[in-house]
Amino acid sequence: MSQRTIIRFKQNVIETCDKHIKQFLKNSERQCEFVFLEEQLVTVVHIEEDEEITLNDVRMMAGNVSRALQNNKIAKAVIDEKELIDAFSLLNRERVITAFVEGWKLGSYRFMTYKSDDKYVKPELHIESVSNIEALIQQGELRAEAVNVSRDLMNEAPQDLTPKTFPEKIKKLFHNTAVNVTVFDEDKIKEMEMNGILAVNRGSKHKPAFVELRYEGDATKPLTALVGKGVTFDTGGISLKSGRNLSDMRMDMGGAAAVVGAMKLLAQSEASVNVIALIQIVENMPDNKSLLPGEVIKYKTGQTVQVGNTDAEGRLILADGLIRAGELNAKYIVNIATLTGAIHAALGSKLGGVFGDETLTFEMKKIGDENGDFVWPMPLVNDYDSYLKSDYADFSNISNKSEAGAITAALFLKKFVPSGAKWLHVDMAGVMESKEEGYYGNSATGYGVRLLADYTKHISK
Ligand code: BES
Ligand code: ZN
Ligand code: ZN
Repeated sequence: MSQRTIIRFKQNVIETCDKHIKQFLKNSERQCEFVFLEEQLVTVVHIEEDEEITLNDVRMMAGNVSRALQNNKIAKAVIDEKELIDAFSLLNRERVITAFVEGWKLGSYRFMTYKSDDKYVKPELHIESVSNIEALIQQGELRAEAVNVSRDLMNEAPQDLTPKTFPEKIKKLFHNTAVNVTVFDEDKIKEMEMNGILAVNRGSKHKPAFVELRYEGDATKPLTALVGKGVTFDTGGISLKSGRNLSDMRMDMGGAAAVVGAMKLLAQSEASVNVIALIQIVENMPDNKSLLPGEVIKYKTGQTVQVGNTDAEGRLILADGLIRAGELNAKYIVNIATLTGAIHAALGSKLGGVFGDETLTFEMKKIGDENGDFVWPMPLVNDYDSYLKSDYADFSNISNKSEAGAITAALFLKKFVPSGAKWLHVDMAGVMESKEEGYYGNSATGYGVRLLADYTKHISK
């Protein structure tokens, strides 16, 4: 049984467009078609009656519509709140409005920094309503803007986003905000014995950086540390990557970008949380000074690691972040990283994997189901711990078996989790990039921003 819902855009400022364009959005999960009728754009959404519609469907649809308008150079659309609410009558009205605005702004995102002709219109959305919906609209806008901050950072070309420029960009982003930024330079990193960061960055022409962001919306709330992997480019180092498209590896700072976006979202929405972001910034390069396979890294805690493979660098630098979270006495720690190809193989490109405290992983899954940053709980089984055995150090940074790669990476991280803290690890390697669909474009997804921000709010309730 198919029910037809029509969302009518009441009026459009149509600059140049073919009046008779009829577009079917092939990639859309819900079938959605656009028809221009006498200067009015009518969107027809086909919804199966027995289908369960989610807030993410609202976002995806809004994203499809705003991109279609952008492609047709339509600068403005006016939509009646009533039509929108009727179309998604089973969902909460307020959340539908926020989700629609969020999807709208995400859908028309374009990374234009390197295009010499910046000709895209950002279709403006006006929702006509008899009630005051300003706060709902603003929330949708803030969420999308924070995700787009992360997308901008991830999409940036690797000659312009380096361990030197990344901290500067972060400082600029939080200038004159409630977020305090501290950048540790190489000397300070040495003094703090962040030896994973120093080892991984040795082949880079840039100095490494460690960035701490603090936001105290409510200092009485439990301290949450968000730890992000910020590898501005991952060549693999001496264990050089080969084969596939290496230029994707400019996005190996996706975890750091998620953390930055989440801090932006939390601060801008004045969330009552007590949060600190810890970001390790390095470039993993082959060079005559590079970290060598076989080297041993001694961490501040005394733990020693045999470097079995310099391409498993993410866990080496995250270890320093986890140790730091312990020094700061964080009660909750969430780290996020483009950590393993194995998670991509296991879960594909539409959901990340989350490891750690079982109850918390399921709580996080629920949050992701609602906000669009999907995660699936993964088993953190100790039986695989023996795979990390080393002959001459405490353990190795790679598994000695070619299986369960995402789990062994998580088990490595677990060794550095300070006792007493509740910890989650999100592996987002599979979801860092998207193909055009819904509110996603052919570029970085900005995954994790909403997940980390909403999760932090959740545990601070
Ligand atoms: N940054 C990569 C993981 C990755 C792969 C991210 C694909 C995004 C897309 C990570 O540093 C890495 O190279 N991991 C290795 C680990 C291996 C050497 C144990 C991997 O997954 O192959
Ligand atoms: Zn790597
Ligand atoms: Zn990496």
